[in-house]
Amino acid sequence: MKSVYCLNPISNAGMSRFDDTYCIADSIENADAVLLRSASMHEMTLPYSLLAIGRAGAGVNNIPLDSCAKKGIVVFNTPGANANGVKELVIAGLMLASRDIAGGCHWVRENKNDPNIAKTAEKAKKAFAGNEIKGKKLGVIGLGVLVANAASELGMEVFGCDPYLSIQNAVRLSHHITIVKDNDEIYNQCDYITIHVPALDSTKGMLNKRAFDQMKDGVKILNFARDILVNDADMADALASGKVSRYVTDFPNPAVVNMPGALVLPHLGASTDESEENCAVMAVNQIMDYLENGNIENSVN
Ligand code: MLT
Repeated sequence: MKSVYCLNPISNAGMSRFDDTYCIADSIENADAVLLRSASMHEMTLPYSLLAIGRAGAGVNNIPLDSCAKKGIVVFNTPGANANGVKELVIAGLMLASRDIAGGCHWVRENKNDPNIAKTAEKAKKAFAGNEIKGKKLGVIGLGVLVANAASELGMEVFGCDPYLSIQNAVRLSHHITIVKDNDEIYNQCDYITIHVPALDSTKGMLNKRAFDQMKDGVKILNFARDILVNDADMADALASGKVSRYVTDFPNPAVVNMPGALVLPHLGASTDESEENCAVMAVNQIMDYLENGNIENSVN
């Protein structure tokens, strides 16, 4: 009997694939495999029994990849399985950055006891007016093919930079997207910038003062990738000076939640039924195929 331990709730669409040769363990001790979403494994002691870790999601910065490799533990992720969920939230992020939807909703809530709210709203609404995204320039750092294509469909002029663009993604990219050779070209000309790169030592703090200084005044930044990609102190300064007019991020931390001009979501990118199911099915299939047949697909270490 193979034993699987779940560090986070994993959708039943995936869990139900385990047959009666598997049991779901109460602890990691003696587990053959671990399934998780965003829980951190960095401080955990990994048992000798552990053969595989399945991350139901794309980012693997919550898993100690090197020490797993040294111990022969294969780490899988589920690239693409939640990409549509994240794409849809990024598109919502573009709207949130462009029009004061959040401020408007807050105003209505605050004025909920006003019997003349319909009339008052007509006067108050000018405070929440914004811009349309059609015709604006969007820079996609680390293509983000689904986001780039969707934004292009919405009438944006889209620029993408990705030195690691796979052939598979390149063929899916709309021919309306302009590929640029480095991020500076995006910084210089885009009205909106969205970042889609993994959290690595080399990408940590890449959106910093040096980057902001090259950007257009009033640029809007979207971060649905990972918080450490942005230097928070430099972002606070850029928001205060107006260099950045809006920062929409999916990663709350004590610094960012206090920044005027930041719109912070509680890591909702992949929190849809569809994404959770897709990720769970893919992660469980990969774990089963490895434990039963030794096959490795989408290992990150
Ligand atoms: C991912 O890395 O796949 C997304 O951030 C969503 C998630 O962590 O579940």
